[in-house]
Amino acid sequence: MNRIRTAMQSVALGVTLALGGLAHAADPIVIKFSHVVAQDTPKGKAAEYFKKLAEERTHGTVKVEVYPNSQLYKDKEEIEALQLGAVQMLAPSLAKFGPLGVKEFEVFDLPYILPNREVLRRVTEGPVGKGLLAKLESKGITGLAYWDNGFKIMSANRPIHRPEDMKGLKMRIQSSKVLDKQMRQLKAIPQVMAFSEVYQALQTGVVDGTENPPSNMYTQKMHEVQSDATVTRHGYLGYAVIVNKAFWDGLPADIRSTLEGAMKDATQYANDIAEEENKQALEAIKASGKTHVYEPTAEELKAWRAALLPVHEEVAGRVGKDLIEAFYKEAAAAGSPIK
Ligand code: LMR
Repeated sequence: MNRIRTAMQSVALGVTLALGGLAHAADPIVIKFSHVVAQDTPKGKAAEYFKKLAEERTHGTVKVEVYPNSQLYKDKEEIEALQLGAVQMLAPSLAKFGPLGVKEFEVFDLPYILPNREVLRRVTEGPVGKGLLAKLESKGITGLAYWDNGFKIMSANRPIHRPEDMKGLKMRIQSSKVLDKQMRQLKAIPQVMAFSEVYQALQTGVVDGTENPPSNMYTQKMHEVQSDATVTRHGYLGYAVIVNKAFWDGLPADIRSTLEGAMKDATQYANDIAEEENKQALEAIKASGKTHVYEPTAEELKAWRAALLPVHEEVAGRVGKDLIEAFYKEAAAAGSPIK
């Protein structure tokens, strides 16, 4: 009798375990992907594309929830949320890693350090880019990829054709000390502010201007509250796609590798669309008639460059002289030397 009861109990236990296993298998692995820009941007679209590929290729085992437009968190909070595991994936701009203690990423903010996308690609896909992502590991973060946005234009509530026109303007910047230095170099007054607050700050005059690639400017409607923009292309804005390391390492190996494949393809997609998206956004800003878009002359562009290049040396102690040199080397190898 006792033996029968024991046998029945173990059958029952087996069924429970099997059901438990099934229930577990039916529970998707959820990746919350938070970001601060609109859905209709290179980053917003690439996040959606990653979601599609990840869900398709894992046959629903993984569910990706994308939260655009700072719906969940603003700039600084989202990185904290990632470290705490409240979200699993982000793609902050490279200008936002300083507060995390990985200030080397600010090298990407140096004015005119990336002459074109070819040099950018050489950096991000080579040992320099990989080395930078590896620095995140000690912060509990794994860096998966670089996603493009584009080259920044300068905007304000008055014409800013030449660098000296920037004097005295209050300019919103991201939380990068290099960008702070850049604005001070132009005798403007930098003010760090979360991306989600920029529109209102421009509208109410809390700040006079800002810098962003056209796609960010247009999709946040900043062009409605800026009278002027100059196509300086003085700096680059792109992203590192990052995940919570403990979460990522804890995934079943086959799932992780499927997701890596999805990320690789989403990265290709992001980098394929970014330039065109920005071109179209610039055209849309012009067509709106709200912001006057100024294309600087060759002589004016030279003046912007001359005014801003000294920033490289001034911040070398912060971001690393060797790192700056490594960027110069890639630029020279691509036939577009910086100096
Ligand atoms: C900004 O804050 O201006 C950008 O980093 C926003 C973004 O994510 O593109």
